[in-house]
Amino acid sequence: MTDEQSDEQFAHTRMRDVAHGNVTRQQPNERLVHSETEDAESVSLTNQPPSEQPVRTEHTAHEIDNTQPGTEQSAHEIDDDQGSVADSTFYETASDTTSLKSNIFKYRYENGRRYHAYKDGAYWGPNDEDAADHLDIAHHLFLLTLNNKLHLAPLPGHVENVLDIGTGTGIWAMCDHLPFVRTSAQILIAYQNSDFADLHPEAEVIGTDLSPTQPGFVPPNLKFIIDDATDEWTWPENHFDFVHVRSLFGCFSDWPAFYEQCFRHLKPGGWIEQVEMAPGFRSDDGTVEREAIGMWHDLGVKCGEANGKTFRVMYDMRRWIEEAGFKEVVETVYKWPIGSWPKDKKWKEIGRWSRLHIETGLESWSLAVLTRVMGWSVQEAQILIAKVKANLRDPSIHGWHEMRVVYATKPRRES
Ligand SMILES: C[S@@+](CC[C@H](N)C(=O)[O-])C[C@H]1O[C@@H](n2cnc3c(N)ncnc32)[C@H](O)[C@@H]1O
Repeated sequence: MTDEQSDEQFAHTRMRDVAHGNVTRQQPNERLVHSETEDAESVSLTNQPPSEQPVRTEHTAHEIDNTQPGTEQSAHEIDDDQGSVADSTFYETASDTTSLKSNIFKYRYENGRRYHAYKDGAYWGPNDEDAADHLDIAHHLFLLTLNNKLHLAPLPGHVENVLDIGTGTGIWAMCDHLPFVRTSAQILIAYQNSDFADLHPEAEVIGTDLSPTQPGFVPPNLKFIIDDATDEWTWPENHFDFVHVRSLFGCFSDWPAFYEQCFRHLKPGGWIEQVEMAPGFRSDDGTVEREAIGMWHDLGVKCGEANGKTFRVMYDMRRWIEEAGFKEVVETVYKWPIGSWPKDKKWKEIGRWSRLHIETGLESWSLAVLTRVMGWSVQEAQILIAKVKANLRDPSIHGWHEMRVVYATKPRRES
């Protein structure tokens, strides 16, 4: 099978699974349940390794390499033989139950997409089925990249309180379906017992979001809460062992204030981890920069600036996390190749998923911001999206999409 055939089959199989409902997703349950705020039980993490790890940055640069297998530390090579073309149980904070109940499902429908209702307009992305599929694809891409790990922070074996901010479909906290079983046996393995709540039955895991789009049936140690992370947190201080943040670029106007809240509500010795991607795409050989796909990065930056919620958080998060008082900060940089151009098998697979991630994400990422904030017409936005999609299938373009992970700990004692 040529790469061209396998790429097409890959995308076709994935899209067919989505289209024919082989991706089973729970419908949101409209039941609203009060959360009972539990008293903070500050437990020292005695299994925690000593905090001797220095701050470090691991760069992962991919090269175009026509002969050598790539590694995470090297640049990817181009494979010249790739073909020619390419119920939720919703908990809420006590203050505004009635209004929440009536309002969180009054979604905004705009330009063929569905958007959240609670804090209408605060977030750029749709919350419809297409958006959920895109987040599932992103989750798989993260797992592939991080060797099936849900986090890089060195958590102790026993954690009590865990918070997933902006949980989306909740797939990091709880995977209730196996969306990619038909495409690869490897993926089935990846999804077995691999969400945080299942892996940590001892922990109480909370996922928060503006949208009630999480599964209806959840394990007893998991709650989904409709909550704006920029509001003052009502959880006790020194409460969480782990705060997980992923793909919240463009979501907050005051990131330092967000990290201050994380710091305050984490236990001493607890960990924060944030995973973010770049607002756009680059290449090492200039093949991205001369095409429509090359303007996406700067456009994304401008959109974030115009909206007052930066899409550049990936570049600044490490510094802001340090400035909030966290220690043992570790940043890892990855470059997702876009498409099947790398020779290395692992990165070729990641490249296919990365391309699918972008193809399914372009409209979600851009439509609301371009039309609401930048004053573009829907047609203008769709034309750019179509051009970028065409670029994604051009094998002469060797793009990559940068992704970073930063984790850090709240020191046990003020230093
Ligand atoms: C790109 S999605 C990422 C979802 C999830 N973290 C993941 O990685 O699959 C961003 C999510 O953040 C949520 N969000 C945006 N602004 C938020 C806010 N102020 N408070 C809580 N959630 C927010 C959105 O509703 C959306 O579900």
